[in-house]
Amino acid sequence: MNKQLLTEFESKWRPQINQYLDEQLQACSDQSTLTDAMRYSVLAGGKRLRPLLTLAILDTFDITTTAANLRASVAVELMHTYSLIHDDLPAMDNDQLRRGEPTNHVKFGEDVAILAGDALQPLTFEWIADSGLPASIVANQTLALAQATGPRGMVAGQVADVLGAGQHLALPALQQLHREKTGALIHYAVQAGLIQAQVQPTVQELLLQYADAYGLAFQIYDDILDVTSTPAQLGKATHKDADEHKNTYPGLLGLAGARTALEQAVTAAQTALVKASAASQRGMGLLAAFLTYFTD
Ligand code: IPE
Ligand code: IPE
Ligand code: MG
Ligand code: MG
Ligand code: MG
Repeated sequence: MNKQLLTEFESKWRPQINQYLDEQLQACSDQSTLTDAMRYSVLAGGKRLRPLLTLAILDTFDITTTAANLRASVAVELMHTYSLIHDDLPAMDNDQLRRGEPTNHVKFGEDVAILAGDALQPLTFEWIADSGLPASIVANQTLALAQATGPRGMVAGQVADVLGAGQHLALPALQQLHREKTGALIHYAVQAGLIQAQVQPTVQELLLQYADAYGLAFQIYDDILDVTSTPAQLGKATHKDADEHKNTYPGLLGLAGARTALEQAVTAAQTALVKASAASQRGMGLLAAFLTYFTD
């Protein structure tokens, strides 16, 4: 895994993603408080992992990223930010710090925070729909996003997360929770790139296996960081999961067991990439480099 590939890719695209979000959200509503609240959380920072994954798929298949591709790829960051604003609400995880800043509801009040999240969701679909990509691509990407974030995806996982707090979940149930609450949107981020690049179905299937392993690894690592990291490093509270009696990998398996599960997920992602490379005759070095997020 060559981390340099990821670092260079991030240096190229993260500033463009941030600039695009800033420009496009300048006048996203006639309600100035709503505009401020949406901009506040979207522009607070964040790794921009999900749009980067979509753009990395385009890069892997030598698709030149047009303005239409960029719009349809950056949109997922709006959906992700809505999920964070609502995740932090007092009725959910009750967090005060996000992306190094006070959470949206601390800054704007619960009512406006809920509504800012509500507004970011349809705006995600608007950007995909008016991106200028061909209608069949728009339709497929829209369907994939609705499936990933709706009652069989992210929201189902968030429900399992809040209802499961204080109750013991066995590993299969916890794995499903993680796949839904976090894995589904990462699955979509890869899928969006595959749809835009019109990749052949057998290769799509293998790269979606990579996405699913990546998504599981991502939430296991998030659980581990909650135990081992600091608010200064993460820009959000730590040691929250145990306090809130959340079901996590370290909680169920211990830190060493969680690290083993993380390694297994990373290996599964690597295996899928090897197969995808053979099936497509393309290098998967950039996508492999995304896995260095978990190793250093
Ligand atoms: C945080 O996501 C929520 C989870 C799914 C674990 P990220 O770790 O991608 O958060 P940002 O976007 O970098 O702030
Ligand atoms: C969040 O999981 C998943 C979604 C936002 C859908 P967490 O609750 O673990 O995320 P953090 O740790 O607050 O970022
Ligand atoms: Mg949560
Ligand atoms: Mg949370
Ligand atoms: Mg967490």
